[in-house]
Amino acid sequence: MYTYLNVRREGPVEYVALNRPDVRNAFNEELIAELTTWATIAGEDSTLRAVVLSGEGKTFCAGADITWMAKTVEFSEDENMRDAAAASKMFGALNTLPVPLIGRVHGAALGGGVGLVAVCDIVVAEQGTTFGFTEVKLGILPAVISPFVLAKIGRSAARELFITGSRFPAARARELGFVHAVVAEADLDATVRKYVDECLTGGREAIAAAKALIANVWNQPFEAAVSLTAAALAKRRVSHEGQEGLRAFLEKRKPAWSGS
Ligand code: COA
Repeated sequence: MYTYLNVRREGPVEYVALNRPDVRNAFNEELIAELTTWATIAGEDSTLRAVVLSGEGKTFCAGADITWMAKTVEFSEDENMRDAAAASKMFGALNTLPVPLIGRVHGAALGGGVGLVAVCDIVVAEQGTTFGFTEVKLGILPAVISPFVLAKIGRSAARELFITGSRFPAARARELGFVHAVVAEADLDATVRKYVDECLTGGREAIAAAKALIANVWNQPFEAAVSLTAAALAKRRVSHEGQEGLRAFLEKRKPAWSGS
């Protein structure tokens, strides 16, 4: 079904790997379209409980395809706007997936590759991975990914990294909050699996609601947050999952989540 993605399903977990290893999984129009389609379908799949996003070959993702971008010199402003909108749609679809999106990152994550890291909920990186917003060095901008990056690391760090375009190691990416665990290559899959297994112990709808809560509460004035959080909590408490989770705890048994 896909040319530039390898998709494998294991029960409720989907493993999605970018598959253009010859160009270090740089994304062109086709890869953007495929990833958007995949995310749209995944977002509606009620049997899905978690996704692992990775890259085939030597690196996670080298960002936008520079050869493809060089061709955009011929594009009109309208065509460039359409192109950027397509990339925004892809990042947006990944960012709003209702299930945990877990990044398995190795080699390099540069430019839009860090954008992918920024829309993951949980990221495990191999300790030798290089990160960077190299766009200014190419005379362009980390524009489309900026909303997701700013939400993740804030303006101060973004100012340093967007302006210098310098590359930084996995340990720094962890300090900044892009990455949650930095491990040796031999431990990468086991660490990802640990996070997947942990995610499978929570209620599917509760996890989706937790993701929505973070997106909705962020940057709200306190007064607005009070009613928003009260409504979200009330809805959860009376939900089937909420009742099952609380009852299971009191009855000292594992909750029976739908889809588990
Ligand atoms: N777009 C298009 N092609 C890319 C690419 C990109 N973003 N990144 C790498 N490639 C291509 C290289 O041109 C090379 O092609 P070739 O085999 O035809 O010469 C191939 O991928 C392998 O790249 P190479 O640099 O030899 O691999 P590496 O494993 O030593 O290093 C990177 C990998 C990702 C660290 C390095 O390629 C790099 O720094 N790329 C630039 C990434 C970047 O600046 N991205 C921001 C875009 S906005």
